[in-house]
Amino acid sequence: MSQFIDPKIVPKAKLYTGEEIPFVGMGTFGSDRFTPEQVSAAVGGAIRCGYRMFDCAACYGNEAQIGDVFQAAFDEGVVERKDLYIMTKVWNDMHDRVEESCRKSIADLRSDYIDLFFIHWPFPNYHAPGCDVDSRNPDSKPFSPERFINTYRQCEALVEKGLIKSIGISNMTIPKLEAVLPMMKIMPVACEMEIHPCFQQQELFDYLVAHKIQPIGFMPIGSPTRPERDMAPEDVADIQLPQMKAIAEAHGIHPAVVALKWAVQRGQIPIPFSVHEMEYVSNLKCTTEDPLTEEEMAIIATLEKNNRLVKGQVFLWEGAKDWHDLWDEEGFIVQ
Ligand SMILES: NC(=O)c1ccc[n+]([C@@H]2O[C@H](COP(=O)([O-])OP(=O)(O)OC[C@H]3O[C@@H](n4cnc5c(N)ncnc54)[C@H](OP(=O)(O)O)[C@@H]3O)[C@@H](O)[C@H]2O)c1
Repeated sequence: MSQFIDPKIVPKAKLYTGEEIPFVGMGTFGSDRFTPEQVSAAVGGAIRCGYRMFDCAACYGNEAQIGDVFQAAFDEGVVERKDLYIMTKVWNDMHDRVEESCRKSIADLRSDYIDLFFIHWPFPNYHAPGCDVDSRNPDSKPFSPERFINTYRQCEALVEKGLIKSIGISNMTIPKLEAVLPMMKIMPVACEMEIHPCFQQQELFDYLVAHKIQPIGFMPIGSPTRPERDMAPEDVADIQLPQMKAIAEAHGIHPAVVALKWAVQRGQIPIPFSVHEMEYVSNLKCTTEDPLTEEEMAIIATLEKNNRLVKGQVFLWEGAKDWHDLWDEEGFIVQ
């Protein structure tokens, strides 16, 4: 019998709507390393170990298989739909057909409704899954607040229709948020963004918290086994840093788990991925016991290295300089 962590003792984040959600979820992006069946088997195992939150996406290509394991868990009486917090995202090629994308995810995930529905990227720039990072789509365009709000309005309509409970944004920047937040009728409850010890995004984190938008940190362990095409020579391996290793040793845990404890104690919801039961159990359990000390939290705060791993090159448009243009680093929207 697998180890069971009572979902009641997993810490909760309170959204501006008053809803309380688990402070850790499971990522489901198998990339080209794991098949949809391997990922969905892990989701099935994770539900039985006490996970209640899952980060899915239409473009991960595995929602139908994950839906099968959700259905099995409902049929076997392991959980009811209301016990799960299911997140998914509309991919860039469906920004004009958001309802169609949402209805497909709902059908695939066998879930009646989506708890939190994200706009995966803030522009409709499409690329084929797994394509070369240097490939460019000639139809790609820079960010446009009007185009984004057109997509966002479709999400607002989904809330009104009861297809989704809340809206999320992802891969945003402060200048983009400044442009679009005033136009929204229903505020987003959360922003999914890359966060790990060597990439803490403190300014954006603080901005979100000030606007009552919950940060959700993707690649919380620094995605140590991401495909080679997503690795750059300057990238730092968070869990190899001597400070992370020393803290791990002091607690008798893996440095990956230190990164997750840090995430929860700092205030972002981590969504670690693993298909290995031993790992995904410790990733949930670590939030319920043996917290890091204030000194350890302070040490990890110093590990910031501005090391963005998801650079987003494949979304660049004609005339863009390089991937830095996607992230508005000078404080204005790069056109
Ligand atoms: N919104 C977005 O644009 C976006 C972008 C990227 C990711 N995401 C989401 O974020 C999730 C997580 O990102 P990610 O999978 O790239 O990175 P990650 O969670 O930082 O790293 C995952 C890898 O860490 C290792 N690992 C996990 N738990 C471990 C443990 N307890 N001990 C040791 N090693 C452990 C596993 O390696 P092994 O498999 O080798 O064991 C696993 O493949 C994705 O699945 C996806 O849901 C969202």
